[in-house]
Amino acid sequence: MLAGKRILLIIGGGIAAYKALDLIRRLRERGASVSPVLTRAAEEFVTPLSIAALAGANVHRDLFDLTAEAEMGHIQLSRSADLVVVAPATADLMAKMAGGLANDLASTLLLATDTQVLIAPAMNVRMWQHAATARNRAVLAGDGVLSVGPNDGDMACGEYGPGRMAEPLEIVAAIEGILNRATGPLAGRHVLVTSGPTHEPIDPVRYIANRSSGAQGTALAAALRDLGARVTFVTGPATVPPPQGVTVARVETAAQMLAAVEAALPAEAAVFAAAVADWRVANAAERKMKKDGSGTPPALAFAENPDILATISQLATGRPRLVVGFAAETDDVIAHATAKRARKGCDWIVANDVSPATGIMGGSENAVTVLTEAGAETWPRMAKDAVARKLAARIAEALA
Ligand code: C5P
Repeated sequence: MLAGKRILLIIGGGIAAYKALDLIRRLRERGASVSPVLTRAAEEFVTPLSIAALAGANVHRDLFDLTAEAEMGHIQLSRSADLVVVAPATADLMAKMAGGLANDLASTLLLATDTQVLIAPAMNVRMWQHAATARNRAVLAGDGVLSVGPNDGDMACGEYGPGRMAEPLEIVAAIEGILNRATGPLAGRHVLVTSGPTHEPIDPVRYIANRSSGAQGTALAAALRDLGARVTFVTGPATVPPPQGVTVARVETAAQMLAAVEAALPAEAAVFAAAVADWRVANAAERKMKKDGSGTPPALAFAENPDILATISQLATGRPRLVVGFAAETDDVIAHATAKRARKGCDWIVANDVSPATGIMGGSENAVTVLTEAGAETWPRMAKDAVARKLAARIAEALA
């Protein structure tokens, strides 16, 4: 799966550096070649000899290695790779990257590269949660640096929490995802995904919401990204974080979601997985509502929200070639979804039964029926990630 791919692997100085040995093995098993770079601190945790033996390649250590300068040069080293991977990415290395420092070989390569960079952070939980690291993460994400992990768990220092480096196989999966994007079936296509609930204000501090977690929409955006699509992800206040490597537009209300969707067009496909509130409060107060002592509760008046799916499905010009809606139903799923498909004017409806007995709402699995022009197709119950990948593959086929 990684045959012929060249990975520049920068190993930072942390206890997780030992996992870099296994990572090198796993990458080479899959046909990739690995050029290892060790920071000075990394040499305290793993030896250049063991890294070189596993990589079957020279270890680069020194910014002022004149032989390497003459043969190849650090600029070229940083650019000849298909992907630059930093594992473990220590707090120090991330800070250097965020600040643009270049005072050793690793940081110089990271500043000189024009290749995609993936970091696998690993550090003590307090260091991970420190405001400085949070700032650096945000800077790096804004610079287009991708990341995998860290995971929650026991740490070598005896603490528990986020900061454990992702496992080698998780890093390999992230690498495969990134490298396959450029050649994936959706490469070069723009796909829009809506996700999450909306919040409709009652007054400046209160709102009406629903229980959508955004899990299915998020999985779908990640699956489309992995097939190569350029994804715009318009999300309400979801409880799961948005996927990496997509353009995120954060909104609160249905009206804002419609505006963000319209601003993101044109797109070749649009998938509306958001649980949009049907109504907003028409008489939302500008100031916090107070009890007035009369014992009479305030009367809320509602106005209907724009139907984003229907609006985009019925665009006279600029309609995406494929428009997909979701339908969460508690009874008569196929009949209701069929009617919905006709009413909204979308191409496909992905229907699921969210009656409490199914455990689907808020759970990690989904059982869906996909309604297309060709009829209804019921898929077996599977993980939401698997539903996302299967649906993304269908979308790729439809756009081919
Ligand atoms: O009508 P219902 O809410 O059941 O339809 C669900 C589908 O319509 C979902 O794809 C949802 O994202 C979309 N929708 C929308 N705008 C609304 C209401 C629903 O895009 N105001």
